[in-house]
This record gives sequence, structure tokens and C-alpha cells, in this order.
Amino acid sequence: MQKTTPIILIAALLFTGNVVALEGDTIPLVAPQKKGGMPLLEALDNRQSIRSFSPEELSRQDLSNLLWAAFGVNREDGRRTAPSARNWQQFDLYLIMPGGWYVYEPNHHALIKLGNEDLRDHAGSQAFVKTAPLNLIYVADHDRMAGAGPANHDFYSATDVGFISQNVYLFCASEGLATVVRGLVDRSRLHDVMKLRPSQQVVLGQTVGYPAK
Ligand SMILES: Cc1cc2nc3c(=O)[nH]c(=O)nc-3n(C[C@H](O)[C@H](O)[C@H](O)COP(=O)(O)O)c2cc1C
Repeated sequence: MQKTTPIILIAALLFTGNVVALEGDTIPLVAPQKKGGMPLLEALDNRQSIRSFSPEELSRQDLSNLLWAAFGVNREDGRRTAPSARNWQQFDLYLIMPGGWYVYEPNHHALIKLGNEDLRDHAGSQAFVKTAPLNLIYVADHDRMAGAGPANHDFYSATDVGFISQNVYLFCASEGLATVVRGLVDRSRLHDVMKLRPSQQVVLGQTVGYPAK
């Protein structure tokens, strides 16, 4: 009970700039909107890579909806909006934002703050990465891929990340956001600055924001 008040306060204020969450804080996202959006066929017709971003931060609702669409829980048994081989759910979504960096916690639909630093300088070599409000970093945890032979680890990481990325593409197409998935990430640098475990592998990045005006 004692923890509830600060967590709610942080959730309410984090994205208005009135409070700085601390490292390790869990920040609940607002409930995702699971109805509406553009008809799927229109979203497919609009899907494209866009590389010009407004620096404006995503609204709390758009951020919540985006993460749920990307790889949120959509069934009571904990399964997700994107498939994963053998339901390993081996991907974590790290978020690099101007005010800090986070990891998405899907079961509570929350962010866990990992640091206050702006890591965008480390998030990719293309210029827009450093000014866009959100870079998603897709990180596979090979410890979760029980029973996959060593030769299959990279294969299933490469296949499963595509579903998450495409969910983000379709969500962005539906909501008029800009996005581009990126293989141009310095994997070992990000592994270092995000203090990942040896079993974790940075696979791709994906930049998201409102389109440049
Ligand atoms: C695995 C993968 C890696 C990619 N890496 C980059 C990248 O590092 N930088 C970039 O600007 N675009 C990247 N793209 C986007 C492609 O360039 C883009 O999808 C392609 O040009 C087709 O354009 P479209 O997405 O608008 O159809 C990547 C796409 C994929 C599937």
C-alpha cells in the first residue's frame, strides 16, 4: 500500500516533465486502447519507412498503445500480440528516450526505468536517431530459448523480431506516426551502455515519433 502512491504519482507526472522517475522505478503505462484504429488493409496500404521525425515526445496514450501493439499481452494466458517460436517470448523492448532509458514490462504494462541518461548518441549512426523522441531497441535473451540448438538461436531471433517490428509499422501506419526499423545499430556498444547480460543480444532498433512537420 505504501508503494502505491509514489508509483501512481510517477505515472501521472512522468511524461509531463514534472517529475523524474528514479532508476529501478516501475512506471505503469495508461491502459492501452484496444479498439479502433485504421482498417488493417488501409494500414497495410500506408505502411512505409519514414526517416524524418518531429522531436515532440509521444503522448502517454500513444506510447502505451504502441508498446501494447508491438508486443503486449493480448490473452489471459500471457501470450502476446506477436508470435514467438515455441512461445519463448525471448524479446525485451528497451526504450531510449530523451529523459532516460527503460525496459517494457508487458505483464503489468509498465516501464521500468533503467537510467536517466539520454542514450540516443549510442542508438544508431543515422542523424535522425539523435533527435527522434523514441528509439526501440529489440533485445533477445538467449537464456529464454530453452531447447533451441545453438545454430537456431540467431535464426529464431531474426525471425521473431520481424513480427514485433511489423506490429510497430502497422500501428504507426494506422495512427499517422513515423517509423523505420534499423539494422544500423552498434550492437556491442549498446550492449555495453545498456549493461546487458552476456545472454542478451541487441538485434535491431526501430525509431518512432510523430512525422516532421
Ligand atoms: C532488417 C531490416 C533492417 C533495416 N535497417 C535499416 C537501417 O538501418 N536504416 C534505415 O534507414 N532503414 C533500414 N531498413 C528499412 C529499409 O531500408 C526499408 O524497409 C526499405 O527501404 C523498404 O522501404 P519501406 O519500408 O518504406 O517499404 C531496414 C529494414 C529491415 C527489414
